[in-house]
Amino acid sequence: MTHKIRYGGDYNPEQWPEEVWDEDHRLFTQAGIDTLTVGVFSWSLTQPAEDTYDFTVLDRILDRAAAEGRQVCLATGTAALPPWLARAYPEVNRTDFEGRRHRYGQRHNFCPSSPAYRRLATEMATRLAERYAHHPALIAWHINNEYGGACYCDLCAEAFRDWLRDRHGTLDALNDAWWTTFWSHRYTDWAEIEPPSALTEHWRGPDHTAFQGITLDYQRFTTDALLGCFTAEKDAIRAHDPDTPVTTNFMGLYRPLDYHRWAPHLDFASWDSYPPLDAPPTRPALAHDLMRGLKDGAPFWLMEQTPSTTACRDVNPLRRPGELRLATWQAIAHGADAALYFQMRASRGACEKYHGAVIGHAGRDDTRVFREVADVGRELAEIGDATLGARTPSRTALLFDWDSWWALEISDGPSRLVRYVDVVHAYYRAAREAGADVDVVPVTADLTPYDVVLAPALHLVKGDLAERLEAVARRGGSVLATFLTARSDEHDRAFLTDLPGPLAPLLGIRIDEWDSRPADVVQTVLLEDTQVEARLVFEIVQLRGAQAVGTYGLDFYAGTPAVTRNAFGAGEGWYVATALDQPGVDRIVRRVLSRHDLIGPYADQPALETATRVTPDGTLLLFLLNHAPVPAHLTAHTTATDLLTGKRIERGEPLTLDPLGVAVLRLQ
Ligand code: GLA
Ligand code: ZN
Repeated sequence: MTHKIRYGGDYNPEQWPEEVWDEDHRLFTQAGIDTLTVGVFSWSLTQPAEDTYDFTVLDRILDRAAAEGRQVCLATGTAALPPWLARAYPEVNRTDFEGRRHRYGQRHNFCPSSPAYRRLATEMATRLAERYAHHPALIAWHINNEYGGACYCDLCAEAFRDWLRDRHGTLDALNDAWWTTFWSHRYTDWAEIEPPSALTEHWRGPDHTAFQGITLDYQRFTTDALLGCFTAEKDAIRAHDPDTPVTTNFMGLYRPLDYHRWAPHLDFASWDSYPPLDAPPTRPALAHDLMRGLKDGAPFWLMEQTPSTTACRDVNPLRRPGELRLATWQAIAHGADAALYFQMRASRGACEKYHGAVIGHAGRDDTRVFREVADVGRELAEIGDATLGARTPSRTALLFDWDSWWALEISDGPSRLVRYVDVVHAYYRAAREAGADVDVVPVTADLTPYDVVLAPALHLVKGDLAERLEAVARRGGSVLATFLTARSDEHDRAFLTDLPGPLAPLLGIRIDEWDSRPADVVQTVLLEDTQVEARLVFEIVQLRGAQAVGTYGLDFYAGTPAVTRNAFGAGEGWYVATALDQPGVDRIVRRVLSRHDLIGPYADQPALETATRVTPDGTLLLFLLNHAPVPAHLTAHTTATDLLTGKRIERGEPLTLDPLGVAVLRLQ
């Protein structure tokens, strides 16, 4: 059992002769590698024909790992089909959004409703569990790989109709939910319902639908259909292995699957971090916090990151010296108990041959990348178990909702330019750069631990959320919502009330109209004495109890409220009616946080990220991450010991972080 942060990654020795394995393990030891993810793409090897299973290579891989003292996260390998399977059962190949039945190729493209796929994938999971449940190297099960996408075949259409029967019960209820009287769509037989695709309700791609209700339901159905594949494999594993934890690797801010629906079925969350190019560090941080929020704040695994460069993008920048270490500590700061790479050894051929790896094609241990990987390995060995199992004591919650993401981005009007994650990120970033720890949680989460609840672009308001947000404010908390929040119900039907629908009493405002303009049209907003900019959508707000905190500067609504604050119970409801620029969002969020004393000690240093974790024995850890390529000069706000250097730091003393430097302070 490893009492340290797990370190390693995806390992595919089946691509290599065994002499190479000797070299791999020598280098792994040198780099402090203790955990290997194995078997992710091995189906054509472990089952070369329908009636032939062959685990000899996998046996040797696991036995060798055990002999070397390393542990294995064992994949079921059901994400890439073997060619024989696609040939024998063409139904396993997906039908795409345009209605084309695919033929054999690529990966991550099985039809989730195919009985042949289900049967054979489950059988593979069963055989693996029978064989390896008690293997000394086994530490976790990794089902499939990066589930995603959708299928539009006839089997999926049939499964969708069954799913709809369960969800809506009757056709009357379905017709009402989807508002089908519009454009003469009243269904009189379940068999009339077609998956929403380019051949049916859509034009100009997946975001343009005639009926949001059916498209939302298809996204929910797809989430559940793929989840069904996962749980079928998990059940097969559980029949032979009652204990070893099971996961699958998620993709963070991934729109197609509602990970909140999956979360209860995972034993721990894990995800693959490939941040968008040129994204600020708060972007991967948001994804980490979203993933941590899946299991109520329990630690997660960073299942993949590249040690150096990706291959799949048009342009694939190299991680600069120090960036890998910083990204690794950022993941740990946000709750990771494992830091794994894709990949351990670079593939010789095929489309990922240029993807970064711990060991490159020449197999050297004197490359910059290998040295940096080994340095991180040493550091993780030194810090040992000091961060394991630690949790983040956030008093700020940000509500994240896949239904709202989908509904907002498939909506005709008011603006196609509003992107859900951009709005969410602006508010998250403001809170994080102000030094607040943030839990990114589903709308069903218990809100009682939080003083501040942020609800950016929460388009759909479902269930009892409005009452629970009112309860936050009533007991003294602050709730902040933005433009395009609380517009419609769970079926994306407009509320038949003043906007913002069920949140109107909490926010003390009424909205009748909104203006949306091209991205280059800038509106000004006066926030007290400061002028900031706003773009895209301008809602026209009438005060119904709230006070104006900011007002529009231009156009016929000049002088009307753009930002409002409403006293509610012992707390407040804030509303931001437009897409403010980042300085504008920062000002508002800092005002809200400061009311609860949630501004961090280094909030004047925008490139310095702080994150808190509390270990199971109550020790408070403060991570300091300098994202700037220049040193950060701070004054220690408290007495602490830096776990990475062992140095004691007295309160009030100067504290300098190197460019891209990290400190893990154990507070006294
Ligand atoms: C994903 C996959 C891996 C690999 C990497 C490359 O995360 O899970 O198999 O393709 O991307 O970045
Ligand atoms: Zn299908």
